[in-house]
Amino acid sequence: MTDVFRHEYFDDFEREHANIFASKLALVKTAITLGATRQSGYTVSVGAGTGSYEDALRRDGYTVHRIIEPSANLAAEARARGFEVTEALIQDVPFEELSIDTIFYNGSAFGFINEHDLRDIFQAHYRQLKPGGVLALLDVPPASALGLAVQASFRIDGESYISQVLRASWYSAETPHKEYWRTTEDYQALLEDGGFSRFLTWQTLRRHLIYQNESVEPVVPGYQEGSYVALVAVK
Ligand SMILES: C[S@@+](CC[C@H](N)C(=O)[O-])C[C@H]1O[C@@H](n2cnc3c(N)ncnc32)[C@H](O)[C@@H]1O
Repeated sequence: MTDVFRHEYFDDFEREHANIFASKLALVKTAITLGATRQSGYTVSVGAGTGSYEDALRRDGYTVHRIIEPSANLAAEARARGFEVTEALIQDVPFEELSIDTIFYNGSAFGFINEHDLRDIFQAHYRQLKPGGVLALLDVPPASALGLAVQASFRIDGESYISQVLRASWYSAETPHKEYWRTTEDYQALLEDGGFSRFLTWQTLRRHLIYQNESVEPVVPGYQEGSYVALVAVK
C-alpha cells in the first residue's frame, strides 16, 4: 500500500474545496481539544497524508510533534512541510507508555487496518496516552450521505449522477479505496475492548454533498447526521 497514494489526490482536492477543508479542520480542532476545554499537548497524527491538516493546525497555534505515514510519496510531502515523519504503518511504531497527550487519525487511516491489528493498536494507544489523554478518530461513516455515495461509486463503472455529485465533495476516483467501512458504534466497541470508557462525538458536513463546499459548516455534537464524524476516546 505504500506507493498507491499520490500527494496531488489530497492537495488538489483541498485547494479546490477550501470550505470542506475548513469544516473538517474545525472538527479536528474540536476533537483534539474536547471542544476547546483542553490543550492538545504532545500530539501524534496517524495517517497524516501530506500533512496539510497538520500544517493548517500549526498556523492556528496547535503543534503536531510526530507524524506516522506509511506512504513514501505522502511522507515526503509531510517532511517537506517541516514535520517529524516516521514512514511506517502504525502497527510497527512503538511509543513509550504514558508519553502522549493526543493521538489523532484524520481521514480514516484505521479504515485501512484489519480488526485484529486495530484491537492491538487501540490497546497500545491506551497504554501510550497519559491520564486524561485523547484518542480522536475522524471518519466518513458508512451510512452517511458521503459514505453511501463513495461506496456506491466503487460499484458503478463510468459516468453517473453519483460520480457527478461525488466530484462536488470527494477526492478523485483514483484515490485508493478505504477497505473497512465500520460504524461509529463499531469503533466505540473496539476502543472499549482496548480499555477506553469515556467517549464524545462531534460531526460536520451535514448538508447534501452538492452544497457542502458552499460555505464552512458548523461542528455540532453527535455522530448520526454528519458525513464527517469525530469519535473521541478520553483515557
Ligand atoms: C484517506 S488518507 C487521509 C490523509 C490525511 N490525513 C487527510 O485527511 O487528508 C488515509 C491515510 O492513512 C494512511 N494509512 C493507511 N494505513 C495506515 C496504517 N496502517 N498506519 C498509518 N497510516 C496508514 C495512508 O497512507 C493515507 O495517508
